[in-house]
Amino acid sequence: MCVTVAQSNLAAKRLNQKYNEKNHMSIAFVILAAGKGTRMQSDLPKALHQLGGASLLHHTIRSGQDLNPNRTIVVASNQDSEQIKQEANKINTAIEVITQEHQYGTAHAVSVTKAALADFKGNVIILYADTPLITSQSLKAMINSRSKYDIIVLGFEAQEPTGYGRLVMSGTTLDHIVEEKEANDPERAITLCNSGLLACDRKVLFDLINKVNNNNATKEYYLTDIVALAKSSGLSSTAVICNPEETLGINTREELATAESMFQSKKRIEVLKKGVTLIAPETVFFSFDTDIKQDVTIEPNVVFGPGVTIQSGAVIRSFSHLEGANIGSGCVVGPFARIRPDTILEEYAKIGNFVEVKAAQISKDAKINHLSYIGDTAVGEATNIGAGSITCNFDSVMKHRTTIGANAFIGSNTIIVAPVTIGDGAITASGTIVTKDVMPKDLVISRSKITVRHSGAERLRDILKLRAKAKRE
Ligand code: UD1
Ligand code: MG
Repeated sequence: MCVTVAQSNLAAKRLNQKYNEKNHMSIAFVILAAGKGTRMQSDLPKALHQLGGASLLHHTIRSGQDLNPNRTIVVASNQDSEQIKQEANKINTAIEVITQEHQYGTAHAVSVTKAALADFKGNVIILYADTPLITSQSLKAMINSRSKYDIIVLGFEAQEPTGYGRLVMSGTTLDHIVEEKEANDPERAITLCNSGLLACDRKVLFDLINKVNNNNATKEYYLTDIVALAKSSGLSSTAVICNPEETLGINTREELATAESMFQSKKRIEVLKKGVTLIAPETVFFSFDTDIKQDVTIEPNVVFGPGVTIQSGAVIRSFSHLEGANIGSGCVVGPFARIRPDTILEEYAKIGNFVEVKAAQISKDAKINHLSYIGDTAVGEATNIGAGSITCNFDSVMKHRTTIGANAFIGSNTIIVAPVTIGDGAITASGTIVTKDVMPKDLVISRSKITVRHSGAERLRDILKLRAKAKRE
């Protein structure tokens, strides 16, 4: 059964229902990530390269989340396992990482999880960490087909099948999979390809893997051989066909860029469908978890790092960068604003041009409209922070907090040296350096006395001209 992104909501609902009814079996994910990834030309393990603000591994794990897996095991190489463990731990501490010392092929990679899964009863789904665009619908369709077949392979119709294993079908039954290097001409002409994803009962999987040998062109243990082995043991296999876009494997930076562009296009459509206005969708970049509510307007050239939520009615103006922030309804951000992690803007707060905000709570109706840095700060309701004002939150060793009350007025170019508290309704005069607490309703001024010399400008210019002339002579 073909399951594509374009499937109607109703069909997707039915699929979910069918999946839930049938899924009384436990599920274990085995995610292969031990390949060398040499073509990425990188010191970073391939599975940790970023796509839409998260690692490829993160995307692969997320695609399976809806299936509530009982176990998730990542297979990593010796060299990469520490970094992969750290990332897996960040995603979910229950994820297990098992090391494959030598890379003898995909069947060998799965075999290293045999002991860990010895007591597991249920379906194992094999995924690749470098194939991050797989949808949960496809995984559910694979599990649904398990009631009729022993092995389910996720296939796709490739426009350019070169390099992929080919699915040799006999009606709806999958007869065997042939790798490109082993294929004869008629087999090479097949365009139905193997995505690499496979679902099978745990015991059947490891019994079949036991029988896989490496008598082939690359001397590798091919996981794909289990389909022919299943047939000779009287077991059946089939293919679930998915949208080819889901199966894009990342081997090069070029493919990573292609995947990013596919991810962004999909996310833009998702956001537009939710009732968000994107004036120039192709110039707005999202992260995997960007959550934007209806009637938000995003102007051109805006970038969302991970962890941003925007409530309805907010406007994000051009050339702004937001990360780890909750933007309340009716807020206006930008143009040219930088909103950094742990920032909360309450409703109708305004952040204007060339303003950077970090780890700050900006209350309702507060305004920071021009050229400011506000970090580690709480700003009270309806307070106005004047142009050029900054918080000095870092003393070169430690960070300190600033608290500014409600209805305060921070005059332009105020320097607030944290830790400091400025009370409700207080005013700081322009250019003031605030180094101690200011009580509510107080006015604070720190200024050097100004001196005006009448016609002093003219006299000074004459002196300077004389000096310049003397220098030339
Ligand atoms: C594999 C499939 C091929 C399919 C293609 C889809 C086999 C034999 N072939 O080929 O039918 O069309 O994927 O992209 O399975 N890995 C390990 N340990 C190893 C070897 C590989 O963890 O010893 C991991 C890699 O990191 C990768 C995945 O397994 O995530 C696939 O390995 P790769 O070498 O890319 O297989 P392909 O030759 O592309
Ligand atoms: Mg590959």
